Amino acid sequence: MRETCAPDLDEGTRRSLDVPPDLLDLPPDEMRRLGHLVVDLVVDHLAGMRERPALLAGDPATLRAGLGGPLPRDTGHPAGGLAAGLRTLAATAVPHQQHGDHPRYFARVPGPSSFAGVLGEWLATGTQSIASSWGGGAGPTTVELVVVEWLREALGLPPGTEGVLQSGGSTANVTALLAARHRTSRDGTTGVVYLSDQTHSSIARGLLSTGWAPDDVRVLPTGDRYALTADAVRRAVLADLAVGRRPAVVVATAGTTNTGRVDDLDGLADLCAEHGLWLHVDGAYGGPAAVTPRGRQVLAGLDRADSLVIDPHKWLFQPYDLACVLVRRPGALEAAFAMHPEYLADVQGGGQGGGQGGDQGRVDLHNRSLELTRRGRAFKLWLTFRTYGADRVAAAVDRGIGLAEYAQALVEADPALEVVTGASLGVVTFAAPARDDDAHRRAAAALTASGWAAVSSTVLGGRTVLRLCTINPRTTTADLDGTVGRLSALLAADDRAARP
Ligand SMILES: Cc1ncc(COP(=O)(O)O)c(C=O)c1O
Repeated sequence: MRETCAPDLDEGTRRSLDVPPDLLDLPPDEMRRLGHLVVDLVVDHLAGMRERPALLAGDPATLRAGLGGPLPRDTGHPAGGLAAGLRTLAATAVPHQQHGDHPRYFARVPGPSSFAGVLGEWLATGTQSIASSWGGGAGPTTVELVVVEWLREALGLPPGTEGVLQSGGSTANVTALLAARHRTSRDGTTGVVYLSDQTHSSIARGLLSTGWAPDDVRVLPTGDRYALTADAVRRAVLADLAVGRRPAVVVATAGTTNTGRVDDLDGLADLCAEHGLWLHVDGAYGGPAAVTPRGRQVLAGLDRADSLVIDPHKWLFQPYDLACVLVRRPGALEAAFAMHPEYLADVQGGGQGGGQGGDQGRVDLHNRSLELTRRGRAFKLWLTFRTYGADRVAAAVDRGIGLAEYAQALVEADPALEVVTGASLGVVTFAAPARDDDAHRRAAAALTASGWAAVSSTVLGGRTVLRLCTINPRTTTADLDGTVGRLSALLAADDRAARP
């Protein structure tokens, strides 16, 4: 064997190599001790959640005092600082946020995560799991492919549906719409895309920021149904055709953020089939309800979408972040996103989509969206299904649907309140007819500031209303009694305070 001799190195190189290779490492027993500290901090947080505020705002000065300061430079040995740093984050950063998993967090869209999901996330993070290329991450890739297939089955979508996990509904919807755009563009120009005034605002933002011509984005009114009808879209499509425009994509919502209402998915699917349009369904929050028989009924037609987005970090009990894009046309994602640079050739599996198989199942998930380096995001959902089973998950979703119906009944029983939109997929809106917009905003703000519960106000038909989203299965009927009762009392007190 040829003997290697020490190369001649300059001073700077030698000094850098004198740094020990384990300078960022901790001995295994220290890692174990500190890891257990994280478990303790998290379990204390979860076990004591009910007694703490559902949302705690923060002021910049206090938070900066606890968390800021100059860039730490020489901190001595890491083990000492690590425990103190963890305690500081747990004591100062963690409390100051909206606790989407709190049983009385009813604002916007809650995120009631499960402990199986938390553990799955930790395992993936701690092991630097990557689901990018087949050759560089066959294990985590398979977990993701399996989870997408489980989701497909649980939601009742057709066999052959493919998908990819993303960070959230905003990016997932853009991913699906880029695939739709790839399929429907002609000579490099986009066609017309139809949205509604209840479509989530991130979709118009996503369309415009990815270069969809503003003139090709139609926002259609939904009136007091707060849901898109096939007739409304048909009229807009025919009007565009009459002036020589090219309709291309319809965006339907399966569970709008404001009211939980569902667009006419079946009617829109018929219309899209008739005119050769791509039907995208944003089911970010509401789509997961299709895992239950009741939800499946409300979401009839969901299985006919060309693309669908759901957010397991909303209603499938996952820690942030987790969304899923599902496409009914195998290969549609790869057609839009595949790249094959020379520096990835060694790890690419060569799968071009075309069913879960790809090339004998060797799928490169980086070819299904704009993400290249992608963490093993599926572990948490895989572990959730494996731990609880789809039936228990469905029962937990169904409880959320029932809780909104209970909240509606409470509102109906209060003579000072009226239901504005009835319970739909875990959302109910209501108002006090005798109070103005400001009084409603103040009531929502006061209850949230009290910490007992967090609720939203929103605007429907030009009127400010109160809104509860009840998708946390840990919520009790007593939680809802207290929330609706407190809001009613705040509105009544506001009236007394406003009187001269
Ligand atoms: C219907 C709908 N679509 C999209 C989004 C955006 O999802 P994310 O916040 O995960 O980006 C939301 C968020 O609440 C939503 O309710």
